Amino acid sequence: MKQKSDIGLIGLAVMGENLALNMERNGSQVSVYNRAEGAEATVVERFLQGRGAGKNFLGFTEIKPFIESIERPRKIMMMIRAGKPVDYVIEALLPHLEPGDIVIDGGNSNWEDSERREAELRHRGIYFVGCGISGGEEGALNGPAIMPGGAEEAWPSIEPIFSRIAAKAEDGTPCCAWIGKGGAGHFVKMVHNGIEYGDMQLIADAYAYLRHIGGKTNEEMSQIFARWNEGKLRSYLVEITAEILRHRDAEGEYLIDKILDAAGQKGTGKWSVINSLEYGQPLGLIATAVYERSLSSTVDLRHEAAALYPPSQVTSRPAFGDSDVDALEQSLYASKIVSYAQGFSLLSEASKARGWELNLASIARIWRNGCIIRSAFLNDIASAYQADPSLQNLLLAPYFQQEITAARPSWRETIAKALLSDCPVPAFSSALSYFTSLTTRRLPASLVQAQRDYFGAHTFERTDRPRGEFFHENWTGHGSDTSSTTYNV
Ligand code: 6PG
Repeated sequence: MKQKSDIGLIGLAVMGENLALNMERNGSQVSVYNRAEGAEATVVERFLQGRGAGKNFLGFTEIKPFIESIERPRKIMMMIRAGKPVDYVIEALLPHLEPGDIVIDGGNSNWEDSERREAELRHRGIYFVGCGISGGEEGALNGPAIMPGGAEEAWPSIEPIFSRIAAKAEDGTPCCAWIGKGGAGHFVKMVHNGIEYGDMQLIADAYAYLRHIGGKTNEEMSQIFARWNEGKLRSYLVEITAEILRHRDAEGEYLIDKILDAAGQKGTGKWSVINSLEYGQPLGLIATAVYERSLSSTVDLRHEAAALYPPSQVTSRPAFGDSDVDALEQSLYASKIVSYAQGFSLLSEASKARGWELNLASIARIWRNGCIIRSAFLNDIASAYQADPSLQNLLLAPYFQQEITAARPSWRETIAKALLSDCPVPAFSSALSYFTSLTTRRLPASLVQAQRDYFGAHTFERTDRPRGEFFHENWTGHGSDTSSTTYNV
């Protein structure tokens, strides 16, 4: 055991404990800290006697000796609950830190908090890194995807440790790269989670379709998802869906049928949507996924409504065959492309607005393994941004144009079938609506502009005049010619 540890880790809950074990297994000596609660064996003692026994760990329940046990410049990683606790711990650390020390927040913090913390700590000579970590418990132990951002001065010191513990993509590259300054790391993690919400709702839509319209059993659905997992939809979330659907509980019954259909959420999906509004980037599919979780949790209300509005009488149930399953696979794939197009557009816009200079190809590469949204098709996204880093929208990339064009007929047909049969497919519908609007040369927004000008003299541009020139019409003949100031939020 060395005298001083290579890194310190605060918070031995599920993620912290597994990450500490991962660091140690990959050659680091780790000082671990968790505050002591009550008189019984502390969390730290339990860890050192349990999973940490016989390994290169030093355990502490006091901040001062914990900090003193770490090699300078100190690298201290917090794996604690986001929000106020992070500020409290930073406050507690500060009196013991020295200039050049590095504080890393590996929780799901709000990126604006990270931006603020980075600036505050920089003021005191401390480097702060807001670091998105994805992969859940298993990822933390065996290799997560890591998205660090903030004080770039810290990167050379932490890069070797992070690269060792990160998941590796199929080509061997670590799923970890410097993201950008300020709160960029947590912003990217937030969008990752937004996309995670979208992917999950899309899979849920497909499940609803297979069950309601296809009349498939859990076993059959499990096989379908397992098969999809061998094709273009190959991804962690599709893989676990196949496992979940065939999982039986202690009574030998399918557990999925007993799980209450009320989805929870911890906030990162909601933050993605709030930020999409701030940056004016449509994120409809992810917004739908967030709202759908909210709607699902109003169980009593839904039951009351369901009793009032039973499914409409569909004269003949649509026939359902293998070709419908294939069409559904295409729909899921096309909708997923739309979701990533929206998510990456948000990243691109925020990057411009905040001067983060995000490398979108690199972000797609980080997400190829270790994280919850890991999937085969992130390689295609990486290639698209590699070929054209200034790509305005993923749907404009030649590869995705081809893919969507091929999927389009099945995509439309699947959704139409679902809607005619009262089967909820909100994420599919949202994806197709976005696509249809995006690809419609002339939208009815002309009418919206006319209405705005009619009642509020908000002005409009004309198709027969250059962009940037604004006009007001005296629509009724008795309005005034004064127009209101033209500005857009
Ligand atoms: C990950 C996950 C994780 C997230 C959970 C729960 O990347 O490992 O995104 O960070 O906390 O998925 O999120 P919800 O409770 O909001 O579903």
